[in-house]
Amino acid sequence: MLGMDQVIKRRLASDVPLVSQVSQYIISAGGKRLRPALLLLMSGALGLAGEQRLNMAAVVEFIHTATLLHDDVVDESTLRRGRATANEVFGNPASVLVGDFLYSRAFQMMVEAGDMRIMQTLAEATNVIAEGEVLQLMNMHNANLTQDDYLLVIRSKTAKLFEASARIAALLFKSSPAIEAHCAKYGQALGTAFQVIDDVLDYDGDAQVMGKNLGDDLREGKATLPLIIAMDRANAEERALIQLAIETSGGQDMAQIMDIMKKTGAFQATRDVAAAEAQRALYALENLPQNNYSQALYQLASQLLGRRA
Ligand code: IPE
Ligand code: IPE
Ligand code: MG
Ligand code: MG
Repeated sequence: MLGMDQVIKRRLASDVPLVSQVSQYIISAGGKRLRPALLLLMSGALGLAGEQRLNMAAVVEFIHTATLLHDDVVDESTLRRGRATANEVFGNPASVLVGDFLYSRAFQMMVEAGDMRIMQTLAEATNVIAEGEVLQLMNMHNANLTQDDYLLVIRSKTAKLFEASARIAALLFKSSPAIEAHCAKYGQALGTAFQVIDDVLDYDGDAQVMGKNLGDDLREGKATLPLIIAMDRANAEERALIQLAIETSGGQDMAQIMDIMKKTGAFQATRDVAAAEAQRALYALENLPQNNYSQALYQLASQLLGRRA
């Protein structure tokens, strides 16, 4: 990870001061660096070494960071990685434009690698992420979303980049198509489980530990899985309350809705969905070489279920 951090630092350079300022502001705040960790651990599991994997790890973190800059504008979020968001500090225009800088810097670096399959993978991933965010925008204030509607959004906006990160390790190593598919499946399942837990933590987490504000989803009128399950299980009166909150961004009913979610067991049921995805990830790993790195990937998928940050 140290090597990757050096690549990140070097490749953030720009002659335009505001570009460096904004990008360093969000990148130096840290973050879990999960996607590069996945790419590097998967590389280790396959037995791959070399400079190129560090460049690609930086590329996926740049793409992730670009999506966060844009996402915080779209979601009007004020807290990220324990700090005021870039849009709070520098404004929406700077956040959007520096997000574009990070996207395109990532693409410059990826082209330098000169591998058509890697370019294909990342071009598709960024495109699908954008579709996922737009799909979610279209779903705002819709109280009739199903679990499948929800899963389509999160597989696109979140799991796709995890999938790409894991697949790139296989592509760098020139693995067989079968191994590549197992890597991709691990990444996709892990990313899905990750976002499902994230959506539980938006209600049932600790803002201090998360470094972002809780309750944003309800305030935005975004029906995530805990809410969808609660609606399914609630009585007519409770369902009407949740429906109204989704349709009108009724953050003021938060306390009552929290009670309904607890009473209906919505958090546990949502965590069960994440556990099933994590299990899918573990199955995919069984088809990969068994070593210290794959062991770490087993742990990553299991520990993610209990994550608080
Ligand atoms: C945040 O991702 C966006 C989601 C997909 C929930 P992370 O939780 O990986 O963000 P950082 O990089 O650790 O801040
Ligand atoms: C994260 O989505 C952004 C992307 C995956 C592109 P969310 O809006 O659900 O995540 P947070 O809560 O802002 O981290
Ligand atoms: Mg957001
Ligand atoms: Mg969002």
